Amino acid sequence: MQIISQVFQEISPADFFYRNKEIAGFSNPARAIFSAIRELIENSLDATEPFGILPDIYIRLSSTGETEEEGFYTLRVEDNGSGIPSEYIPLAFCQFLFSSKYKLKQTRGTFGLGGTMTILYGQITTNKPVEVLSSTGDSKIYGYRLMIDIERNQPIILEKKVYENDGQWHGTIVEVNLEGDYSKAKPKVIEYLKQTAIANPYANIMFVDPKGRLYKFERTVSVLPPQPKETLPHPHGVDVETIYRIIRVTKCKTLLDFMQEHFHRVGRQIAKSFLEFAGFPEDTDPKRLKPEEIVKLVQAMKSFNGFLPPDASCLSPLGEEILKAGIMKELEPEFAAVTQRKPSAYSGHPFIVEVGVAYGGKVPVRSDNDITLYRFANKIPLVYDESGDVSWKVIKSIDWRRYNVEPGMPIAIIVHICSTKIPWKTVGKEMIADRPEISREILNGVREVARKLKVYLSRKEKVKREKERLSVFLRYLPKIAEFSAKLAREEKVPDIKNLLRRVRRFGEG
Ligand SMILES: Nc1ncnc2c1ncn2[C@@H]1O[C@H](COP(=O)(O)OP(=O)(O)O)[C@@H](O)[C@H]1O
Ligand SMILES: [Mg+2]
Repeated sequence: MQIISQVFQEISPADFFYRNKEIAGFSNPARAIFSAIRELIENSLDATEPFGILPDIYIRLSSTGETEEEGFYTLRVEDNGSGIPSEYIPLAFCQFLFSSKYKLKQTRGTFGLGGTMTILYGQITTNKPVEVLSSTGDSKIYGYRLMIDIERNQPIILEKKVYENDGQWHGTIVEVNLEGDYSKAKPKVIEYLKQTAIANPYANIMFVDPKGRLYKFERTVSVLPPQPKETLPHPHGVDVETIYRIIRVTKCKTLLDFMQEHFHRVGRQIAKSFLEFAGFPEDTDPKRLKPEEIVKLVQAMKSFNGFLPPDASCLSPLGEEILKAGIMKELEPEFAAVTQRKPSAYSGHPFIVEVGVAYGGKVPVRSDNDITLYRFANKIPLVYDESGDVSWKVIKSIDWRRYNVEPGMPIAIIVHICSTKIPWKTVGKEMIADRPEISREILNGVREVARKLKVYLSRKEKVKREKERLSVFLRYLPKIAEFSAKLAREEKVPDIKNLLRRVRRFGEG
């Protein structure tokens, strides 16, 4: 039998994401509009906060079709961020897997594809180029009109312009045309913006929708969370490829130096006892390790218990104050409590969990009477695929009656996880996988704030009961006094004012 010969072919990263749009969050027109807005906002936040700039972000979505139903839009996002050096603008926006964020520290973007995917989607639905205007704050502003050569994963520069920058403006403006369904996406977009405002209360965010409605989220704190520092890999988190890459660039002549130089929190003493544990002489030249020795080294790194846990300087949690400010600003609750858990790690990746609870005020009641859950990862709100997320699983595992919580109460739980490596389930970044180390921290955090909520709710219940009691007295006591006066054939009805005052005082106490 003759087997028909097969054709083998290689595709570029751009082509791969062109064929698999759904895994990057562009599965249908509604989702595409949502993801486009989200990715550009994330890039703007990443271009401001880490540079110590309080974010001012302006987003405008306008209809370009004859009617809104036609589903063609222009999306414009402006920020006051770091800007991008001119020579990198085409690559940053029109080459997949090109990023300034492939570093070991916390950022929102991590894959080098969010913004680029937005532009690709715009291009394949409208055949129009993206327009970018950017300045790093020097004397020039650069303007580009760009498209993506999808098969080659390369930018095509249609036009480049240079303008004078006298006002020292820095920032980036991106304008992209795309097909979408805003009317369907609207609830999620507004929810996303509101939650972004909760996690980033130091940002000014303005959004103008296709009908010209303005949504304004104003800054209420003018401090930024401490910025993350770049870190070295933790020995528990490395694999063979990482070791190869380090060996290629290392200047260390011995494994003893190598361990201390390239790994997170490994000092001389720890390096010594590790090498003894792993069975390598201290003066082994790392460049001479054989392939099977590298595997042995990696395995020993994973199983050695003597390494210090990763520290959290590469992370940028919100901190209790900012988180609480965000909650107060957007939810205006009657009661709120927050907590920040101590840094922890899974597979050598450090993470911190922050949890908040809010009761009453603008906290919504869900139609299914469940608790409202706001999920955040590296300060990004996650508004899709809740049921697949680790935080949802944790919330559902709790017996809420133990905390005096009843179905239908206006209660929101806020869970923020920050890490150098969020264990995403997909590159669309909507669901966090269930790692036991992470779910344990979430559970403990939720319990901590739930206990505070319990105290508040039982005090509230007591006050309510006392009030009811008082109102019963108020209603009947005058009648009883009158009646007993009649019974006793007294002319004068006894004065109950004093009595009532005493009851009232007790009710307040
Ligand atoms: N608004 C912006 N301001 C400054 N730099 C930006 C902006 N948007 C994108 N960039 C640059 O373009 C790169 C690629 O962006 P993107 O495709 O979204 O991937 P990622 O955000 O994962 O790095 C970023 O790493 C960043 O360096
Ligand atoms: Mg991005």
